[in-house]
Amino acid sequence: AAHQAVNLHECLDLITRLSRHAGKIIKSRINQKKTIETKATSIDFVTETDQEVEKLLIEGIKQKYPNHKFIGEESFAAGIKEKLTSAPTWIIDPVDGTTNFVHSYPNVCISIGLAVGGEVKLGVIFNPVLDMFFRAIKGEGAFLNDEPIKVSGVKNLSDALVAVEFGSSRDEDFRSIVAHNINYLAKHAHGIRAAGSAAWNLAQVARGAIDLYVEMGIHAWDMAAGDIIIREAGGSVMDPAGKEFDLMKRRVLGSSSIEIANEVYPNLQQYYPEHD
Ligand code: IPD
Ligand code: CA
Ligand code: CA
Ligand code: CA
Repeated sequence: AAHQAVNLHECLDLITRLSRHAGKIIKSRINQKKTIETKATSIDFVTETDQEVEKLLIEGIKQKYPNHKFIGEESFAAGIKEKLTSAPTWIIDPVDGTTNFVHSYPNVCISIGLAVGGEVKLGVIFNPVLDMFFRAIKGEGAFLNDEPIKVSGVKNLSDALVAVEFGSSRDEDFRSIVAHNINYLAKHAHGIRAAGSAAWNLAQVARGAIDLYVEMGIHAWDMAAGDIIIREAGGSVMDPAGKEFDLMKRRVLGSSSIEIANEVYPNLQQYYPEHD
């Protein structure tokens, strides 16, 4: 299908500027006391910074691209539920790692993907506290602070450092699946990390510091940027049941190689969250 032509380099310039501005706001507040509200569960937090940063990003993009669409975490929570179509769509997580942000744990990222024709073509993940800026444009490689990055290429779980997350659901079935999978991974890998930010985990796979990351229950805004950044760094992104990755299905397995993904996924208990 025909879709609007988009200059990805202009888009990258704009989003680099906007996310650096937003990053200053996040960094200046991370060690301060926050006012917290909860969303879906008692540990699903939002702060005014999440909302303010999302607004700043969306308004900044709209000024230049009034016809583009947006899927943003806090807009979605406020009832603005856009579907992913072929139109240019910015998929935005203003603060990935809100629980870290609330606790002043210095691992928070802004994560922004731009999908065109239903496929992510541009991604930016920025940790403003550590000043690590990851980016990729389809076909042009992946970069951290302007240096090219590559996945580790690790092919076996027995050689891997693995990232997991525990999610924000209190559901018993979900918790037991997570526990089973983490236990399986911990039994075979070099080690397990839970950094509290999906975007961060994906970025670490892309730069070769993490060899595999799996999570079931996340959202498009957690994965959009990481998806393109890992692929451009030579890694693999698939559904945790070994199928083709679907941005809207709330599940991801990002890895340094297809071999390690194929070794791991048959041993995972599967959890299928509601989606679309
Ligand atoms: C969360 C983080 C966390 C992951 C959750 C996400 P948020 O995003 O990425 O690591 O386990 O699934 O919802 O709410 O901090 O943007
Ligand atoms: Ca959230
Ligand atoms: Ca998130
Ligand atoms: Ca968020």
